[in-house]
Amino acid sequence: MTQERRAAITGSGVFTPSEVITNDELVVAFNAYADRQNALHAEAIAAGERAPVPQSSAEFIKSASGIEQRFVLDKAGTLDPDRMFPRLADRPDDAPSQMAEMAVTACTEALAKAGVAAGEIDAVICAASNHERAYPAIAIEIQELLGTGGFAFDMNVACSSATFGIQAATDMIRSGSIDRAIVVNPEICSAHLEWRDRDCHFIFGDVCTAVVLEAEDLAKGDRFVIRSTRCATQFSNNIRNNDGFLRRTRDAMDDRRDMQFVQNGRKVFKEVLPMVSKHIADHMADEGVGADDLKRLWLHQANKSMNDFIGKKVLGRVPDPAEQPNILQDYANTSSAGSIIAFAKYSEDLAPGDTGLICSFGAGYSVGSVLVTRA
Ligand code: COA
Repeated sequence: MTQERRAAITGSGVFTPSEVITNDELVVAFNAYADRQNALHAEAIAAGERAPVPQSSAEFIKSASGIEQRFVLDKAGTLDPDRMFPRLADRPDDAPSQMAEMAVTACTEALAKAGVAAGEIDAVICAASNHERAYPAIAIEIQELLGTGGFAFDMNVACSSATFGIQAATDMIRSGSIDRAIVVNPEICSAHLEWRDRDCHFIFGDVCTAVVLEAEDLAKGDRFVIRSTRCATQFSNNIRNNDGFLRRTRDAMDDRRDMQFVQNGRKVFKEVLPMVSKHIADHMADEGVGADDLKRLWLHQANKSMNDFIGKKVLGRVPDPAEQPNILQDYANTSSAGSIIAFAKYSEDLAPGDTGLICSFGAGYSVGSVLVTRA
């Protein structure tokens, strides 16, 4: 067994759905839904027995979050005021699942960039904030569709799934148990977002990202050597989704708002920001990396002011936009995929020797960071 090999990210890929919902389109649909609900319940509202559904606003969405649009797998169902939920038809058991299908596109791009054949991959980790079914693992289906070797498994650490997956793959490569892995993050957030809740209906979008990791001595082309990874968790109920297999044993499940994404956004802000800032500062200090040594921050993409705050705290000054690229204006929050989209789209210009940090954070709470240097 080879001891202490270094792992490197040698390829990345992004599958972006073809359908886009702008803030204006989203708000038109939401307000039509609100008008219909309010007309339907006019008497109860007039009697003070029921609160009216308030109107949403595109200006609020942009200023509170930085989001301007989101990609989705199904626009029509999501914007239908009588439905407000994507139409994603059940697939027969002998057809690829939705998640596996988008994963194959992202993985194929990542493999091509790495110059690696699918058969050379020893492990597929499908790391995402929700999985389409319990078993067989989506990762094993992806393994089958791609033709990779070795083994595959699913993991879920919500918005931190990608970085936790990268840490798991990195540790396997370092210990010598595998040579190469793919960490893939199919995020169908539109199916666990409550589009009828004004406070969060604008938050999420759909996407899939993938990264190829290889033992550095095997890498053929451009690569980002993983200097170290760091993961941390701390229990919180402030971001929660109660859906799961026990759901079927409960009464009145259709009325259960907690079967979708629920958050206390203000508390998340207040509690997660110091946790993440300290996590990154400690990780950098332990690696002897100062603020001036850091050329790029690829942060989790949930909220622009959150990222502005973290960037300023980490660098000790307002980051240049190119130092801390945001993609959430185009993609919204894509859970674990966000920091990887930023990495995939804004890393090729870095020079050999440049160091950057990928960091994701979210439900759990969880935070994961990956310190990389371009070789
Ligand atoms: N349109 C218009 N007004 C809205 C609105 C909408 N869509 N949604 C909320 N509002 C109103 C609220 O009712 C509230 O009004 P009030 O002050 O009269 O009560 C006001 O705007 C502020 O609402 P609030 O929810 O406190 O907004 P916010 O500034 O906290 O921003 C989020 C909301 C969700 C963007 C923000 O809290 C956030 O991003 N939090 C962290 C997100 C995160 O990282 N989550 C992790 C998910 S993985």
